[in-house]
Amino acid sequence: MSGLVGYPGPDPTLPARGAGPGTGQPVRLLPTRAHHTSGHDTGPPAAGTAPAASLRTGAWDPLVDAFGRLHDDLRISVTDRCNLRCIHCMPEGVVFRPRPELLQYEEIVRVAGVARRLGVRSVRITGGEPLVRRGVVDLVRRLASLGFDDLSLTTNGTLLGPLAGPLAGAGLHRVNISCDSLRPDRFAAIRRRGDLATVLAAMDSAEAAGLGPVKVNVVLLAGINDDEVEAFAAFARRTGRPVRFIEFMPLDAPGDWSRSQVVPSADVIERINRRWPLVAVANSDQSPAERYRFADSQGEVGVIASVTRPFCGTCNRLRLTADGALRNCLFARSERSVRDILRDGGDDEAIASAVRAAVMAKAAGHGIDEPGFLRPQRSMSMIGG
Ligand code: 5AD
Ligand code: SF4
Repeated sequence: MSGLVGYPGPDPTLPARGAGPGTGQPVRLLPTRAHHTSGHDTGPPAAGTAPAASLRTGAWDPLVDAFGRLHDDLRISVTDRCNLRCIHCMPEGVVFRPRPELLQYEEIVRVAGVARRLGVRSVRITGGEPLVRRGVVDLVRRLASLGFDDLSLTTNGTLLGPLAGPLAGAGLHRVNISCDSLRPDRFAAIRRRGDLATVLAAMDSAEAAGLGPVKVNVVLLAGINDDEVEAFAAFARRTGRPVRFIEFMPLDAPGDWSRSQVVPSADVIERINRRWPLVAVANSDQSPAERYRFADSQGEVGVIASVTRPFCGTCNRLRLTADGALRNCLFARSERSVRDILRDGGDDEAIASAVRAAVMAKAAGHGIDEPGFLRPQRSMSMIGG
């Protein structure tokens, strides 16, 4: 571990990971960044109230949960469908939601507009695979017009190439591309559809379109692709693309997850550091990734240690599923439907109340390690990464 700064012990130069509920560490109580208001804002309403006038003209109180965590990041899944069948996500023969159950784009934009007024600053479009849904470019344009600080999309990259330019033109800021192997045969074995060359070419297209830096998501599966840690690190050095190694979570659709299949992030960083010394990088945002740059070259690697080093204490995320459920955690076992509110003619205040209630109901942590842990009924593609 020589030469490695800040892993796995605490490092005062890094943001307080593991802060928050149950850790004895403080959590961020209020926005550290300026709270957004529109130019004609009349000022935030008094606590606990949201007068109708402010609905039309300005911001509401930010979304702070029962543990003081500010929620300013919304993940919007636009479909549960996908053109791949990754073994850690979707089984062959998966049954998708009937289309009428999915939120229409108008409905998504309405919820996003309410979220914007509730202080959400960053939106990520996910799936399933978001680019299999028609008209995503149009959705991006409409979301971009709401003025989020950060508007990004997570994709498997198979359909991105020709869409990269239009997406950037519509106001998308950046993309994360999932790629679990750099070997064509293994890529095919893990993803069961699609091919590596198309995905690598899509990374180039995304960069050419201005959607960089392209982050590359790698889910590590013990005994399947964990021998590629160094190859991905070399890829990060060569291309300058940040690579994020994600611990396999119990969100696979077959429900076969076991802890023995998880590749601990600490081991990943130790291995890379042995080959190419790493230096910890402080996170400028609330990203759960623990980031490292190479001491001797361009590029960075990061780990998302959801299982072995949960970051629930600083979680700022809220999710909207393709069928219109608000989820306060990937692992939540309950959720609130905004689709029913929308389709019953509910107003923006009713949507805002549902969003606030979802945030207030958030548990301290996902509890994967607790004896009574039950995985959620929904798998990854039904929630949206
Ligand atoms: N555990 C961890 N990550 C997963 N993903 C899909 N299924 C799982 C899982 N069971 C990843 C995708 C994508 C991101 C949105 O989530 O590969 O990179
Ligand atoms: Fe599709 Fe992504 Fe799930 Fe793979 S991980 S099956 S690309 S949604």
